[in-house]
Amino acid sequence: MEKSTWLATPNIAVVKYWGKRDSFLNLPDNGSVSVTMDEALKTITTVEFDERLESDLLVLNGRRASAEETARAKKVLDAIRKKAGIFAGARIFSRNNFPTAAGIASSASGFAALACAASDAAGLSPSKRELSIFARLGSGSACRSVFGGFVEWKRGSRQDGSDSYAVQIAPADHWKEIRNVIAITNPERKKIGSARGMEITSRTSKLYPQRVRLAPKVIRMMKRAIRKRELETFLLLTMRESSHLHAVMLDSFPPIIYLNDISRQIMDAVLGYNEARDEICAGYTFDAGPNAHVYTTQKHAGEVRRLLSEIEGVRQTIVCKVGRGPRKLGSSEALF
Ligand code: PMV
Repeated sequence: MEKSTWLATPNIAVVKYWGKRDSFLNLPDNGSVSVTMDEALKTITTVEFDERLESDLLVLNGRRASAEETARAKKVLDAIRKKAGIFAGARIFSRNNFPTAAGIASSASGFAALACAASDAAGLSPSKRELSIFARLGSGSACRSVFGGFVEWKRGSRQDGSDSYAVQIAPADHWKEIRNVIAITNPERKKIGSARGMEITSRTSKLYPQRVRLAPKVIRMMKRAIRKRELETFLLLTMRESSHLHAVMLDSFPPIIYLNDISRQIMDAVLGYNEARDEICAGYTFDAGPNAHVYTTQKHAGEVRRLLSEIEGVRQTIVCKVGRGPRKLGSSEALF
C-alpha cells in the first residue's frame, strides 16, 4: 500500500466545545464555531499501512508516542480500517511546527492530518463529512480542521455520532482580512488535559447546564456575524464566549484555571486598545491554556502584535491568516 502525507492546520474556536455527552465517540454537549488557521501553524503527517506491523507505530515530533497518544490515534485508524476492510498496522510520523498541547490546538491539526493521510493511505476517498467524523474520534476539535475558513461543528443528537460533524459556514476568502495574533506566554504542556477538564466541569459546575442551554443562540448570533462580516459583533461575542468558558472552568470543583497573570494583562491591553480607538477592532479568546488568540483585522494586526510583544512574559507572537484547510503533499515531503 502507498504511503500518504498530508498537511493540516489548527482551528481556534470562537464558540467553544467543553463537555461531552459521549466520551468514547467525542460527542459534544453543545455545538461550536471556529476559524481555521493558515499554514503559519501546521502539522505534517505521513501514514503507511503495513501488514507486517503487529500494532500501530506512532512517532510525534521525532519521539515514540506514549501509550495514551497511540490509543487515541488507534480510534481514528480503527474506524478507517473498518471502512476500508483492512487489518494492517499503521506507521505514522507526525510533526508540528509549534508547541504541542499548550492551548494552541495541536490536537486539532494533528488528528485532522491523521484522518486525511490515513484515509488516503487506506485507499479511501471519503467525503468531508466522513473525514470530519474520523478526525472527531481522535479529538473533538479536530473535526473542524477538516475544513478551511469559518466552520461549525454540529452537535447532532444520534447516539452513534453519525450527525455530529463539521460544516463550512464560509470559505477563507469570505473574510480574508481576519487575523489571529497569537501570544505565547507559556510553551509548556498544560497540567489538566482537555478531556479531564471537560469531565470535571460537566460533572461539577452549577453554571455548566446554563452554558449548554445558551449555546444554540450564541452559535446563531456568531454565524450571522460571520456571514455579514460584522466585525464588532464577531469580536464582542468571541470575548464574551471566552470569559464564559473560563467562568464555568473556575466554577468546577476542583477549579480549573488555565489563565495566568499574563493572560489577564493581555485581556486588559486588548480592551484598552479598543477603548483608545473608540471601536471594537480586536478580541481575545483563550482555550485550555494561558496563550492568547487575539482576533483582529489585517489593518490592526501589526499594532496588536507590537502591543502584545511589549507585555512582560509574552515569549513569542505569531500572526495567522484564515486558512484553506488540509492538503495532500508530494512524496518528496514524506516524513519517512
Ligand atoms: O478537542 P479537544 O479535546 O482538543 O478540546 C478542545 C477544547 C477547546 O480548545 C478549549 C475548545 C474548542 O472548541 O476548541
